[in-house]
Amino acid sequence: MSEFVPAARLDQLAPERGLALEVAGASVAVFLVGGEVHALDDLCPHSGGPLSEGPLENGCVTCPWHGARFELASGRSVGEFQCRDVRRHAARVVDGRVEVALTPRAARRS
Ligand code: FES
Repeated sequence: MSEFVPAARLDQLAPERGLALEVAGASVAVFLVGGEVHALDDLCPHSGGPLSEGPLENGCVTCPWHGARFELASGRSVGEFQCRDVRRHAARVVDGRVEVALTPRAARRS
């Protein structure tokens, strides 16, 4: 895992919604759900849909393009529309800032 880097202010995140960010050159979708911050790649593995724009339900985000669902806590593809898992990144809040540590691509599970 790489180092944590500042990605956004916590007050930029709206509860139960995604926010698209650039983190060290990567497109990352950050979510604030139940007081926890989650970070996934913002490109759906199916065809590149923006996960940051997808609806959230039961700890999952649904891709707004074709409906693939991914667990926020793991990045796993779940539900009927199966595709590759999405890369999940570590995220934390420090002094009102959201910090993200990118998961190297070689460590991705699929
Ligand atoms: S681009 Fe996400 S389900 Fe097709």
